[in-house]
Amino acid sequence: MDPTVDTMPLIDPFLRKITYLRVSVTDRCDFRCVYCMSEHMMFLPKKDLLSLEELDRICTLFIQLGVRKIRLTGGEPLVRRGILDFIGGLSRHLGSNALDELTITTNGSQLAKKSKDLYDAGIRRINVSLDTLDADKFRQITRWGRFDQVIEGIKLAKQTGLKIKINTVALKGFNEDELFHLTEWCHEEGFDLTFIEVMPMGDIGNENRLGQYWSLDDLRSRLETRYTLSDLAERTGGPARYVKVAETGQKIGFITPLSHNFCESCNRVRLTCTGELYMCLGQEDNADLKSLMRKYPDDNSKVIEGIREAITRKPKGHDFDYSRQKIDGQVARFMSHTGG
Ligand code: GTP
Ligand code: 5AD
Ligand code: SF4
Repeated sequence: MDPTVDTMPLIDPFLRKITYLRVSVTDRCDFRCVYCMSEHMMFLPKKDLLSLEELDRICTLFIQLGVRKIRLTGGEPLVRRGILDFIGGLSRHLGSNALDELTITTNGSQLAKKSKDLYDAGIRRINVSLDTLDADKFRQITRWGRFDQVIEGIKLAKQTGLKIKINTVALKGFNEDELFHLTEWCHEEGFDLTFIEVMPMGDIGNENRLGQYWSLDDLRSRLETRYTLSDLAERTGGPARYVKVAETGQKIGFITPLSHNFCESCNRVRLTCTGELYMCLGQEDNADLKSLMRKYPDDNSKVIEGIREAITRKPKGHDFDYSRQKIDGQVARFMSHTGG
């Protein structure tokens, strides 16, 4: 590489190295999951979004600065027009070994149509959000989703050779009774499974967050009534801690922002579809990289200066807390804006 190119890694004030960039490519989604969105969402005007060229420029700069893993999120990333060409372009960095992984988190609605193209564009592993295996409950939780379409999509993705991880948000009174069914289904299909604690993000109208919260400590204890679990040291670069199920050999992940904060090992920052860099999912502080990119279309050093300055402001962690029977640390923006 050209020695004048700045490749100094990004290290935050708590000496955490930033190697994982999550990019929300659109705030739009074809579902309206009750814990994520209100039913009547106002989406951003298209002109406020980063163009795909701008997204490529900024991702490439982050890779230059040591990012090894990029995850595309949304909203639903596969509803953004041109996304497959964008992915195909970005995967040049996999070819050059500058990047270890380029992946997506999806609701699965487009997988029946797009799995093969995703594979051809360089994607090898995907995370699919699925909170229930019951078609009626699926409709209830996603408001607009079609269960059969998603299951069909997941099957096709598997046939195409994509490795699949299912993300299930643990929701009290909603999927408690499906714990073993979900676990067994993932085992039969050969999917990894990760449970996530619900976080207070965005004003979701009449839904009650505290009522939704199901601690993964409790979920794990219930799994242990049937299975022997042992902690694994293995990590994917994401926040999940994994266990192995002795009886089946299956791997299950737990993402526990509420019950066990994992911020001390945080390696990631998030770029929104409008070009703001959030240094933490659970804090409001952000840096406006879109303005910088538009002000300096030909001078990447100015954008890098902006990124480095933002990293000096990465906070120690989030302040989400439900422990006093009330919600603390809530953030106003929706998960779909920052991309989870
Ligand atoms: P893997 O590569 O499979 O490890 O992916 P991942 O777990 O990093 O990505 P995924 O999109 O599957 O993330 C699952 C969910 O974990 C996200 O949607 C968030 O809800 C949550 N999550 C990810 N990173 C953080 C984080 O830094 N802080 C908090 N509080 N939650 C996070
Ligand atoms: N808390 C926890 N997880 C959430 N997701 C969306 N909103 C929330 C929330 N408030 C999950 C989705 C998806 C991932 C991108 O984030 O189910 O798996
Ligand atoms: Fe869409 Fe994902 Fe939010 Fe559900 S959780 S509404 S699939 S962005």
